Order: sequence, then C-alpha cells, then structure tokens
Amino acid sequence: MRDALSKHMKTDGGTQTFGGRKQSLIEDARRERSGSSGSPGPSRYGDGFVFEEKQGRVTVNVLFALSGGKNAGFFKTGKIFETFEAKLLHIESRPGRKSKNSTTDLEFFMKCEVHSSDLDVFINSLKRVADDVRSIPEEKVPWFPRQIKDLDRCNMLITKFDPDMDQDHPGYNDSEYRKRRAAISELAFRYKQGEPLPTVEYTAEEISTWRQVYQQLRSIYPSLACRQFLDGLQQLEKECGYGDEQIPQLREISAFLKEKTGFQLRPVAGLLSARDFLASLAFRVFQCTQYIRHSSAPMHSPEPDCCHELLGHIPMLADKEFAQFSQEIGLASLGASDEDIEKLSTLYWFTVEFGLCKQNGAVKAYGAGLLSSYGELVYALSNEPEYKPFSPEETAVQPYQDQTYQPVYFVSESFEDAKIKLRKYSANIKRPFAVRYDPFTCSVEVLDQPRKIQNALSQMREDLKTLHSALEKLSSS
Ligand SMILES: [Fe+2]
Repeated sequence: MRDALSKHMKTDGGTQTFGGRKQSLIEDARRERSGSSGSPGPSRYGDGFVFEEKQGRVTVNVLFALSGGKNAGFFKTGKIFETFEAKLLHIESRPGRKSKNSTTDLEFFMKCEVHSSDLDVFINSLKRVADDVRSIPEEKVPWFPRQIKDLDRCNMLITKFDPDMDQDHPGYNDSEYRKRRAAISELAFRYKQGEPLPTVEYTAEEISTWRQVYQQLRSIYPSLACRQFLDGLQQLEKECGYGDEQIPQLREISAFLKEKTGFQLRPVAGLLSARDFLASLAFRVFQCTQYIRHSSAPMHSPEPDCCHELLGHIPMLADKEFAQFSQEIGLASLGASDEDIEKLSTLYWFTVEFGLCKQNGAVKAYGAGLLSSYGELVYALSNEPEYKPFSPEETAVQPYQDQTYQPVYFVSESFEDAKIKLRKYSANIKRPFAVRYDPFTCSVEVLDQPRKIQNALSQMREDLKTLHSALEKLSSS
C-alpha cells in the first residue's frame, strides 16, 4: 500500500458499475463526442426531454434528485438502468439545492444511451423512484463560473474514494470515523462564498494522527523540498500555528494566504470533479478538505485530507510565482471541452501534485502529492523513477497512476519556465473567446466583444504608464 496517495480532483469521476462497465468518464465523453459526429441534432420527447437519436439508440442527459432513503433510491435507479440495458456514459452527483438542511438529498446528472423504443418507459420508470426528473440539451460551451460567488455551484463531488462506499478506505469499517467525516463534510456542504470559514475542534486522536504525519515529513523536507516550499512552511510555522501540537485552522491560513498571494480557501466535502476544482483556481480560490485520514493509517489516505492540503499545498500557495501558475491553469480550464479538461488536469497532476524542479543543480519536489507523502517523496527523489523534462504537450497526455507511485516525473527548469510553457500551451486550447480575471470585482471577464477588449487594453495602458513613470524615477535618482 502506498503512503498518502494524494489528489484533489479526478477526471474520471470514479468507476461505473452499471452494465459491467468500468472506465474513465472523460474517456466516455470523448468517445461519445467522436461517435456522434453527423448526428441529426437534438429531438424532443413529449414532456420536454431532449435527446440525440442515432441507429435506433437515443442519448439523453437526465437529471434527477433522490431524497430521504437515498441509498434505496439509488439502487432502484441502478436497477432501471440495468433493466433497460442503458449504457451509462457519464455520472455526477452533488448535494440537492432544494434541501440544503438535509444531509441526505442528492442530485444526479447521468448521460446515457437507451433503445429509442424504450425511452418513454425508461423515463416514466425513473420518475417512479426519483424526484424532479428532467433533461437538458448538450451545451456547446460548458457552463463556468463568472463571479466568485458562482463557486457555490462548483461542488461536484466524486465518490471514488469515499469511506462510505470504498471498501479499501481505511475508515470503511469504522462507523464513528465515517460519522465524524460526514459531520465535517457537512460544514463544507453548507458553506457559501464569503462566509467566515468554519473551524473544527479536532479531537486528541485526530491531533495525534496529524503529529505523526507532521513529524515524519518535517524531518525530510530540508533535503528534498524546493526552496519556495521551505520558505512558505517557515512562515506558516511562525505566523499560522503550524507545528506538531495542533491542526491549523483554514480561517487563519486563508487570511495568511490572502495577504501573501491573494489566494483564499473554501471548505470542500471531498474529492472534486476536475472541472470544478480547476475553475476555483481561476479565482485564486483553493478548495480544501478539513477532515483527517483514519488513525489506523497515518501514512496513507486514499483521498485528499487536511494533511495533504495543509502540508502539501498551502506552503506552495504562499509563493507568488506558484500562485500565478496555479491561477493560469484554472483560467485555461474555463469553458474548455472535456478533452481539454482531461489534459489540463493531467498537467495539474504532474506539476501541482507531483512536480519536480531544478534548484542549484539539484532536483527538488514542489508537488503536493509528494510533499504530503513520505514514501513517494523519498521514492521520487531516488534513482528509481524516470525523469522527463516538463513539456506541456507531452505531459498532458502522459498516463497517470492514482493507485501507486508514479513511474515517471516531469522536471521543470524553474517555475518561471513552467509558467511560460503552460501559457503557450493554454493559448492553443480551442475556445471561441478569451478570459481575463478582474481582481477588483473577483470576476472573470469573457473577452468576446471588441468593446471589452478595448476596455482591457486601456486599463493595461494605464498600468504601463505607472511602470514607465516608476522606471523614469529610478533612472533619475
Ligand atoms: Fe491535492
């Protein structure tokens, strides 16, 4: 078993078991797109259901809610898919918007393919076991947040490593642990952008787990972590209560980061979809779990937890260069196709999670997945794995490993080098518009009209005048 398998988001949304299929959702999305070329366009079923029909099969995007005994409803829904031999192409879930006070309501989005002749019976069957069954047409440009408050909608969770569902999770057989994790996750479900970040009163057992992780990793950081990480950690130890005696609180850390790099935190209930996680980075918002791994496995967590976030990610987010690098990945993701999201999240994986960089002639770690995993950090900087120079085109299509150590790591010449290369790569992502972040309004401006571009240019001219004036003053003094 590997140490602290670390990640924040997944592109494949877990595994699908309906119909015996088990593969990446993004792969499915890609296959579906390429397979539907030449489609005659969407049609409508009697009560507004939108679908694409081809060769006796229809593809439909179904949304529905499950309330009360959600597990029973979920399994009944699965039975319907099985009965109608529905080919499931994509599945996502999120807390129900209509019942924020309930911990049990969930909304589901499923893209599936059924026999044309079965469509009406299939939908009527779903209506018998689920609430609010409806469908939506395929959007050409996927929705993305424009204002920071829109991040309240970026909460698509992936249940792949959930202790309630994954038998391999160290907490699967510990009902007390699952209850505690659910209670902390509930704080995230209820959170709205702009509210004070929730604080968690950690138990002695949780602090003991943190202590073990902290002490073990802290001892190897000086020789293996990059300079920016060590600087950030040192500041956090001085200003934010980092140490082995307590688990630092998100509220203090967020205030610290805001001052350093403009990044802020928001709580998240678990593993997020890649699209939602990357979108939050565009706003310099980092979605952060607050629960901690199971005490029986302090060196292993199949999902992101506060050890991974606070030790792996936060020190790096205190570095200006790295913060900008992270935001640029986020901005590149807004409105991108599923295929480009998969590539960007793979780039994120091999940089922000598992990246290495050169410093003073030595290779050092800057990826959070490494810096929160004793075993993989030591392994990554040994002679065993293969190193490749960071090149976005190659990195974006490198298969990655989320069950054991990476067989290959990408080494950047520096953060600046990685940023320049990533910017060049992002410019080639096909979108019918460009986006620009406005830090004054914390919003994303879509530059799709000449007037907007003109306004952005005139603002840039003012900034250039200020810089020009500063240079003149320097040269005359
Ligand atoms: Fe992560």
